[in-house]
Amino acid sequence: MAELCLIVAMTPERVIGIDNTLPWHLPRDLQHFKKTTMGCPVIMGRKTWESIGRPLPGRLNIVVSRQANYKAEGAEVVHDLAAAVRLAEEQTETSQVFVIGGANIYQQAIALAARIYLTVVQTKLDGDAWFPQTVETEWVEESNNLVEADDKNPFDCRFITLKRSGV
Ligand SMILES: NC(=O)c1ccc[n+]([C@@H]2O[C@H](COP(=O)([O-])OP(=O)(O)OC[C@H]3O[C@@H](n4cnc5c(N)ncnc54)[C@H](OP(=O)(O)O)[C@@H]3O)[C@@H](O)[C@H]2O)c1
Repeated sequence: MAELCLIVAMTPERVIGIDNTLPWHLPRDLQHFKKTTMGCPVIMGRKTWESIGRPLPGRLNIVVSRQANYKAEGAEVVHDLAAAVRLAEEQTETSQVFVIGGANIYQQAIALAARIYLTVVQTKLDGDAWFPQTVETEWVEESNNLVEADDKNPFDCRFITLKRSGV
């Protein structure tokens, strides 16, 4: 069975989005996202799908919506999270399946996740979507690397991998 992973970028106050978009432009984090998820199925909520606006290339795109007739060109549409995970496992043989947001889907998927790829964007920003609080005792830090801001990336980023403890 594939490992279910969450991948997310958030501020220290756990902000992940505003007005159905990302609150920052960080090419470095987009590269990290692409490298980490490439070749693997990506599961997302309908709002995140609409925010991205196109299928992510090289990955099976799975969109979760309660709307019976919702169509997403270039993606598979399913009507609950369990169906999304089943479809990902049926249609690919990768060792990881990624839940890529947004807030609503993270909230439901975090209990099922074995690993979290977390980018902490080191700044304070307004938002209207947040990543759920993790229970510290449930997670072990596997790696933690700080990459400093540069001319293209306005904020320092801390790339952290968390593994569910006891797994
Ligand atoms: N920083 C990051 O790493 C990151 C990553 C992804 C997204 N984001 C941000 O997060 C925000 C969007 O998050 P959000 O919470 O508003 O929306 P979302 O999680 O992307 O999508 C929510 C929608 O997913 C569908 N859904 C949720 N649970 C479902 C279930 N159990 N069964 C069937 N359908 C279900 C519903 O679609 P219907 O209404 O169609 O039924 C719901 O309205 C945006 O600002 C985006 O930019 C940030």
